[in-house]
Amino acid sequence: MDTIVEAVEDLKAGKLVIVVDDENRENEGDFVAISEYIKADTINFMITHGKGLVCTAVDREIAKRLGLVLMPTTHTDPFATAFTISVDHKKTTTGISAFDRATTIRALANPFSGKDDFHQPGHVFPLIAKDGGVFVRQGHTEAAVDLAKLCGATPSGTICEIIHSDGSMARLNDLEKMAEQFNIRIISVQQLVTYKITQNEEC
Ligand code: 5RP
Ligand code: CA
Ligand code: ZN
Repeated sequence: MDTIVEAVEDLKAGKLVIVVDDENRENEGDFVAISEYIKADTINFMITHGKGLVCTAVDREIAKRLGLVLMPTTHTDPFATAFTISVDHKKTTTGISAFDRATTIRALANPFSGKDDFHQPGHVFPLIAKDGGVFVRQGHTEAAVDLAKLCGATPSGTICEIIHSDGSMARLNDLEKMAEQFNIRIISVQQLVTYKITQNEEC
């Protein structure tokens, strides 16, 4: 595993990292990148090598400003992932290309964006992080927003689960191999909790 400092360095440079949650939780690895730095290339990498769902984690303030409301839920998801109604930026065409999704994601992280800049439903799935981040919920949603804050960026990170070539979820062993293959940093949500404690971070 790499350090949080190394991961933050790469994220600040616009690269993505792999973040694994606890093996007793989802036991999944997601690619994570900072939303305001997202380029179409990053999305293309995520959907080619990750193959999961591209979601953009935002803090509660962004969600409120952009009028992102939670999907109707019957609360049957054991992890209570906070999906809002999906969005596309109005400047996109079909919304699904890597270019269109990057446009939507950068707009979600743009402090000058407003509710009227987006169509709903769309092809990017915002998730609302809990206040307090990984101290309160140890999900990829909170990890992505906490990492964006540690980068000094708008509190929004974009994530995509990593699925193994055989269709099953990639586990730690596979994820470590992938990190080496593509020269990507790999960290855990638990490391982030510990780092925040040692840094007296409140985010
Ligand atoms: C959305 C998901 C992923 O697991 C994603 O990592 C966000 O969820 P969580 O915060 O629960 O880890 O379900 O594709
Ligand atoms: Ca999930
Ligand atoms: Zn997750």
